[in-house]
Amino acid sequence: MTASKSHTSNNAEPLDVLVIGAGISGINAAYHLQTELPDYRFAVLEARDNIGGTWDLFRYPGIRSDSDLYTFGFTWYKWNRSNPIAEGGDILAYLDDAMTTHRLKDYFLFNHRVVSLDWAENQWTAQVQHGDQDLQFRSRYIILATGYYDYNQPLPTTIPGLDDFSGQIIHPQFWPEDFDYTDKRIVVIGSGATAITLIPKLAEKAEKVTMLQRSPTYVIALRNRAVQSWFARLLPKSILYYYRRLSALIRGQLFFNFCRAFPNAARSLFERITLPRLPLGIPLNPHFKPKYNPWDQRLCVCPDGDFFKALGSRKAAIETDTIASVTKIGIQLNSGTHLPADVLVTATGLKLQIGGAINISVNGSPLSLSDKHIWNGAMLQDLPNASLVLGYVNASWTLGADAAMGLTCRVLKYMQRNGYTAVVPGVEGEQEKMLDSQRRPFLDLNSTYLTRAQDALPKASALRPWVSRTNYFADLFYAWFGGWDGLRFA
Ligand SMILES: Cc1cc2nc3c(=O)[nH]c(=O)nc-3n(C[C@H](O)[C@H](O)[C@H](O)COP(=O)(O)OP(=O)(O)OC[C@H]3O[C@@H](n4cnc5c(N)ncnc54)[C@H](O)[C@@H]3O)c2cc1C
Ligand SMILES: *[C@@H]1O[C@H](CO)[C@@H](O)[C@H](O)[C@H]1NC(C)=O
Ligand SMILES: *[C@@H]1O[C@H](CO)[C@@H](O)[C@H](O)[C@H]1NC(C)=O
Ligand SMILES: *[C@@H]1O[C@H](CO)[C@@H](O)[C@H](O)[C@H]1NC(C)=O
Ligand SMILES: *[C@@H]1O[C@H](CO)[C@@H](O)[C@H](O)[C@H]1NC(C)=O
Ligand SMILES: *[C@@H]1O[C@H](CO)[C@@H](O)[C@H](O)[C@H]1NC(C)=O
Repeated sequence: MTASKSHTSNNAEPLDVLVIGAGISGINAAYHLQTELPDYRFAVLEARDNIGGTWDLFRYPGIRSDSDLYTFGFTWYKWNRSNPIAEGGDILAYLDDAMTTHRLKDYFLFNHRVVSLDWAENQWTAQVQHGDQDLQFRSRYIILATGYYDYNQPLPTTIPGLDDFSGQIIHPQFWPEDFDYTDKRIVVIGSGATAITLIPKLAEKAEKVTMLQRSPTYVIALRNRAVQSWFARLLPKSILYYYRRLSALIRGQLFFNFCRAFPNAARSLFERITLPRLPLGIPLNPHFKPKYNPWDQRLCVCPDGDFFKALGSRKAAIETDTIASVTKIGIQLNSGTHLPADVLVTATGLKLQIGGAINISVNGSPLSLSDKHIWNGAMLQDLPNASLVLGYVNASWTLGADAAMGLTCRVLKYMQRNGYTAVVPGVEGEQEKMLDSQRRPFLDLNSTYLTRAQDALPKASALRPWVSRTNYFADLFYAWFGGWDGLRFA
């Protein structure tokens, strides 16, 4: 079954499933639908002109994953390179290979932006912009695989005097293609994963790159080569991949739990690991002494210690300070230092957005996702015949996307078997109060870009099934064996 214009309004038969978004989550959704529900008719609509989502949008030098591809890759398509942490281009190529191998490409329609979704008379109608055409798609079920941030706008920040700067200002989300930074003096404002990734790469050609951070982050150096323990060497090749995946999963989980359970021990462990990597003249305090505990925010990974090496080469520097004002020729810091700069990179973060800025209405009433409780991390209260695919922020995203699709396919099969017309998660009056008293953050990290967005996100609690993504093993268990508490079938 191929996707084509015949699925638009003129066609009498609605699609069985409409997937929105062709990033990792949308591609994974397509694979699951094709494999688990082979007679379902579905299409994937993507606003951009390519697959990949995040990995297509972000084009700054050095762009790469933080996660290992054994867990960030698909369960159904092995990552077979020797480097677990991969560059953006290689991730895109991997996604493309995966789609070719599993003949998924025909389901995808590009340059199709969904602007609204309406559930009326027991079906979804999607208004879609395709170039200057307005199209309509009708479907029985929708899957929102639209990612978790705004593609058009980064997190707004106010940097005093930024307008006075005479050089170039770049946000990493919109890195100009072929921007030549040879021999330039660059200041990168920010200390998140993007800054940590950018600095070593920029330092290769720039005259000087300075990372200007208001507050430090935990940076962990990992060897970017597949583990070659004696045990791994004994394993047959066919099992080796699963062994690596499972050990990455378990290690990640144990380390997270260790950090949350023993924050002080985790802090001193980080200090012990970081100290020997620091070049002379760059003290741990203040540059690598975060105010928060490890895993209160996402850890930054630097493969093979590239970030520390760049600092050691003296082409990169680090300043922990606050900005008094941007000047015509650089940045005046509150400590009195002036950082001269030709280019400012504002690596200040993502603006969160769930649901791809789509206006959703159910039987004529607008529905705001942020008013609704999430059901088992994958469906939303009062949203009929719809799934939301989100991943983890404290583990590989793809694992969560996979658990969400496992659950979705099980719900779809259950409905098909029992001849139900619709499914909708519902919270009863009394329950609402209880869930509110057990409120948990939708995304359980303390990073600025997450905390600033909590009110725009759906509601989560500590009580199953009204929980957000928790951890892979629990989420898979509920996807496969969980009950239907909280769902209303009709
Ligand atoms: C720089 C960067 C590095 C990251 N590194 C990691 C990492 O190492 N590990 C990790 O786990 N996570 C990482 N993440 C998080 C990352 O976003 C996810 O891992 C993953 O790529 C998200 O996949 P997705 O398909 O869910 O969403 P996206 O990749 O965001 O894809 C969503 C797609 O939906 C499309 N879309 C949205 N709205 C509409 C609409 N209305 N109509 C049609 N199409 C629409 C978008 O155009 C996009 O193509 C990183 C994020 C960033 C920004
Ligand atoms: C990895 O997979 C790709 C695509 O399936 C294949 O072309 C390539 O030969 C594989 N490489 C190795 C080292 O197995
Ligand atoms: C809701 O989704 C189920 C599962 O795909 C499907 O069987 C049913 O027909 C859908 N409902 C409507 C009204 O389309
Ligand atoms: C992620 O966070 C959740 C909730 O805090 C926790 O249960 C889970 O174990 C974490 N996952 C990993 C892989 O660390
Ligand atoms: C976030 O920070 C607050 C206070 O600063 C703290 O109480 C809370 O435990 C933190 N939460 C997480 C998930 O780190
Ligand atoms: C979506 O809703 C907003 C606010 O209600 C409105 O301004 C906007 O025009 C709507 N967009 C579409 C495409 O319906």
